[in-house]
Amino acid sequence: MPLIPIFVANIYKDIMPFQSFDTKNLTLQETHGFLLTSVAPRPIALVSTVDKDGNVNLAPFSNFNAFSTNPPVLVFSASRSGRTGETKDTYKNIKETMECCISIVEYAMVHQISFASTEFPRGVNEFIKAGLTPIPSDLVKAPRVVESPVHFECKVTQVIELGDQGGSGNLFLCEVKKIHVDERVMKDGKIDPLLIHQAGRCGLGYYVNNDPERMYSIAQPQAKIGIGVDALSEEIRNSRVLTGNNLGQLALNQTLPTTEEIADFKATESFKYLMNFEGEERKNQFHKAASEMLGNNNIQLALITLYSYS
Ligand SMILES: Cc1cc2nc3c(=O)[nH]c(=O)nc-3n(C[C@H](O)[C@H](O)[C@H](O)COP(=O)(O)O)c2cc1C
Repeated sequence: MPLIPIFVANIYKDIMPFQSFDTKNLTLQETHGFLLTSVAPRPIALVSTVDKDGNVNLAPFSNFNAFSTNPPVLVFSASRSGRTGETKDTYKNIKETMECCISIVEYAMVHQISFASTEFPRGVNEFIKAGLTPIPSDLVKAPRVVESPVHFECKVTQVIELGDQGGSGNLFLCEVKKIHVDERVMKDGKIDPLLIHQAGRCGLGYYVNNDPERMYSIAQPQAKIGIGVDALSEEIRNSRVLTGNNLGQLALNQTLPTTEEIADFKATESFKYLMNFEGEERKNQFHKAASEMLGNNNIQLALITLYSYS
């Protein structure tokens, strides 16, 4: 049985307040806005390159991510200008040398990397313009950026051109040959997500900071497969108290509670307290208690509590 029967899904489709757009009816600017404001926040690659004569170039690109570990491959896209259709200096340099260095952007550098995105004439060194510091790479000619905590020296293995018009992307498949990591962001030989403060690009001029105060870690699916939301009782799935996130947490558990576990819980003071409430309020209290347990990542106890309600 699907969780949402098809006829219900069709009703949703009619009543949900979505506006829908055929991309063939959108202007370039509108498409750009929908794509880049929704696919966000994006990590930012600060890409240094040199041309065949050794002139240095630096520019930020947020159409960027890691796509393979074996081989290690980072990909970014330098699009043709939406205004002129012209390719960017980064594109031209990589076509000449098939190398680059990608440095990771932290929020302490955002204004400088933003300035480095200025459309300077070819040959202008944005390290100098933006006041960033180059240091030589070991394996490629493009320098690393001192202010950045992680640098990837890359050989570009493929350039995939997605079109020849304004706004057409050019994907650079960058095989990582050497990684340099500032010890400041490392703990026990690894990069600590709480120590590295990347900036992310959102739509328009908006950015986010990878602020440790706002970061959280969640219980993740394990090798043993979780029961799924569909295995939960209808009462739990339709709870007015539990959120979608709560259901997602419960789904992780590998089994439903056993009758023994439920019996043990029914002998506790917590259970007796919850039974003081009557009717709908009793159910809400059981669900609220479970929700609090989920807030502490105690999934098993939350499930037992929910299934002890009667
Ligand atoms: C944070 C940020 C992210 C950017 N991301 C991209 C991108 O993913 N693709 C792109 O073509 N331009 C992007 N730009 C614009 C380029 O940086 C800009 O066109 C720059 O002038 C290109 O430099 P170049 O001609 O020296 O290669 C971005 C600009 C900023 C500030």
